[in-house]
Amino acid sequence: MTIPASSYRPPARWLHWIMALLVLLTIPAGMLMVQEGISRPLQNTLFVFHKNVGVLLGLLVVIRLLYRWRTPPPPEPAHLPAWQARIAGLTHALLYGLLVIMPIAGYVRVKAGGFPIESLDAIGVPALVPRSDALAEIAKSIHFYGGVAIAILVAMHIGAALHHGIIKRDGVFSRMWPRTAR
Ligand code: HEM
Ligand code: HEM
Repeated sequence: MTIPASSYRPPARWLHWIMALLVLLTIPAGMLMVQEGISRPLQNTLFVFHKNVGVLLGLLVVIRLLYRWRTPPPPEPAHLPAWQARIAGLTHALLYGLLVIMPIAGYVRVKAGGFPIESLDAIGVPALVPRSDALAEIAKSIHFYGGVAIAILVAMHIGAALHHGIIKRDGVFSRMWPRTAR
């Protein structure tokens, strides 16, 4: 199997698509579970899902950033205008930043608030932050505004990716899509 130097390598692609799927489930779950009027069992299920998948995303982003550091991504395609390459680079950097901040803020919000994180509790990971309502409130605000920001950036990102994949068909989409790695 030969992978052109202009494409993402398979581990980068798999990490991208697994995380994309999980983020695209985590954001709506987070938004829905805080709505008033949804049934209690559904709310509980969404909370358990959101918190634990959020923690998994936190672990995956660390693996992904370490992999990216060891195996740098391909350069932006030469045909892209410089301003588009800059916006893409900035969007990706902000997405990575938020993928780090959101799990941390969520973790602090929950643990400082005195609530469980089922997966971590089950394997005996002790709370890494003290119980503090003030700290929980700060983390809650960061998580809220971060959630708005990541939702907007993901929408922009998907719009741009689909524009390249469906309308321009200029190879930017297939750099990330697993099919071309075969
Ligand atoms: C249907 C959904 C999505 C599509 C079609 C898509 C598509 C793509 C494509 C084509 C690239 C490569 C761009 C390039 O080569 O310049 C890319 C990169 C990237 N995507 Fe997505 N994406 C999606 C969802 C997401 C989500 C939900 C996230 C995370 C919040 C995300 C985070 C990233 C990041 C951080 C990069 C940069 C990779 C790097 O250079 O290390 N993507 N995406
Ligand atoms: C990439 C990972 C994550 C994303 C994208 C994300 C996104 C969101 C979004 C969009 C909301 C709804 C907005 C709001 O009301 O705050 C939310 C709420 C929430 N998230 Fe996350 N989240 C992530 C990780 C986590 C983690 C790891 C935890 C805890 C372990 C967590 C705990 C919560 C809680 C408790 C709420 C309800 C808000 C509150 O009342 O405090 N999240 N999240």
